[in-house]
Amino acid sequence: MTATATGDEWWRRAVIYQVYPRSFQDSNGDGIGDLPGLIDRLDYLNDGTPGSLGIDAIWLSPTFPSPMKDFGYDVSDYLGVAAEFGDLETMDRLLAECHSRDIRVLLDYVPNHTSDQHPWFLEARASRDNPKRDWYVWRDAKPDGSRPNNWRSAFGGPAWTFDEATGQYYLHSFLKEQPDLNWRNPGVVQAMHDVLRFWLDRGVDGFRIDVMGMIVKHPELADNPPNPNWVPGGSDRMQHLWVNNRNYPDVFEAVRGIRGVLDEYDARVAVGEVFGSAEEIGKFYGEAALNGLHLAFNFQLIHESEPFNRYTPWDATALRRIIENAEAALPPGAQPCYAIANHDRSRFISRNNHDGRGLERARASVILLMALRGTPFVYYGEEIGMTDVEIPDDQLQDPARFRSFGRDPARTPMQWDTSPGRGFTTGRPWLPFGPETINLESQLQQDDSLFALYRRAIWLRKDQESLYRGVFQHIDLDDDVFAFKREWPGARSILVIINTAIEPRSVVLPEGYGQVLLATRREAEGRPVAGSVVLPGLAGMWVARA
Ligand code: GLC
Repeated sequence: MTATATGDEWWRRAVIYQVYPRSFQDSNGDGIGDLPGLIDRLDYLNDGTPGSLGIDAIWLSPTFPSPMKDFGYDVSDYLGVAAEFGDLETMDRLLAECHSRDIRVLLDYVPNHTSDQHPWFLEARASRDNPKRDWYVWRDAKPDGSRPNNWRSAFGGPAWTFDEATGQYYLHSFLKEQPDLNWRNPGVVQAMHDVLRFWLDRGVDGFRIDVMGMIVKHPELADNPPNPNWVPGGSDRMQHLWVNNRNYPDVFEAVRGIRGVLDEYDARVAVGEVFGSAEEIGKFYGEAALNGLHLAFNFQLIHESEPFNRYTPWDATALRRIIENAEAALPPGAQPCYAIANHDRSRFISRNNHDGRGLERARASVILLMALRGTPFVYYGEEIGMTDVEIPDDQLQDPARFRSFGRDPARTPMQWDTSPGRGFTTGRPWLPFGPETINLESQLQQDDSLFALYRRAIWLRKDQESLYRGVFQHIDLDDDVFAFKREWPGARSILVIINTAIEPRSVVLPEGYGQVLLATRREAEGRPVAGSVVLPGLAGMWVARA
């Protein structure tokens, strides 16, 4: 199967780095990362030389004023900056400092819900006839006194909370402190479009859009169908199929509206957090990939289906299925967008470490991610191999410890060095640190560290047109080897081979491929190869046509 990327937009070539602002760099000793801290670390991300990581854009998890019940995903003012992170002036400075280094900036747009402390919700809950009442989703109890429907919160429990003062339930797809906005109300649409314009006018290059597929629900809020996989006695009885509150067809009109706002500006990008099958993800790009989101995340390299904590194994058959499905489901002109980690899931190494070989798989994941057709996202700390950190009960922060899966372990502070504050803070960090041995400073001293591999992959990719623009073509070499070619007319063709077995595999190279450009084991790089090559267990490489 072959698919093409078209267009010269910057985001098609970009590698995007996710910064969790709370955990990246603290500048004032309060133990919480902030924007001045991030500014101080920009040269690490890209100083224009291959000594830096080389990423092209950053996505900042929410930076807006917020009671931080869901660490910023509960926004109380879309047009400001949380005091613990900085202020509007710091944000402007961040934008200028990024742009002077050719780093683009994406903010996190949270359209599905606000904080219950947002002035809109305070007004809405003041009385049933408040003009803002309909900006949220209110319903009476059913005649028998029960909740308006059977929808569940993504964090567990019912999606409805009763408001004593006004005698109705309001809908919240997440925490009860995160009431859902009503995108069927034109005032909401207008106000939320103006939020986009406010930041675009300030020079923001785009947005990551939180739970894009949930913002418009079934018009009558019909019950979700029961979980077809439930067997009596199973604990997943309440996991209804989310068809009336997720990826409901009416959501695409809202997507088109958001795209319309971005199209008022030059060279901006919207990347949606969406969940579902490859086909469902494909729909978010719009007709002919022209009136939807520029990019929609495909998270299947993390988890293929729900429950979300059933992780995708590092296995050639799974990789092949996921990538082929993703390629097949996208409209022409659409470009995939993959992440192997983020702030909601276990870190890559920890998910793939059942036999203690997670780090080797992480190295191979770089060979994969940076060579796939698509826009890769790198979650902070993955590049130095940070792992999930066990958090003592009395230090747990994440309110959403849903299905016994708290997200704190994957959100611990960046480990810059071995000092007591790990170079992150002079104070007490908001979450405990991981093992001291995992830190940037030590990796900078090793030629063959995970960080060194990330950096080489990212910089090499910039020079290889076939990698950032070329077609993708899967080839069959061995059941345990995921192999594909990337090609573009006039550019060097690159063959990518990844052995997911723990034993070596010998593969016959297609005609003409002769030079190892990048490899999980650095000593293999630069070597000429011919005919066939033995890939050690869990190894991978990029082989260029000679
Ligand atoms: C998204 C975010 C997650 C947040 C949720 C509610 O899934 O990634 O962190 O808790 O939306 O906003």
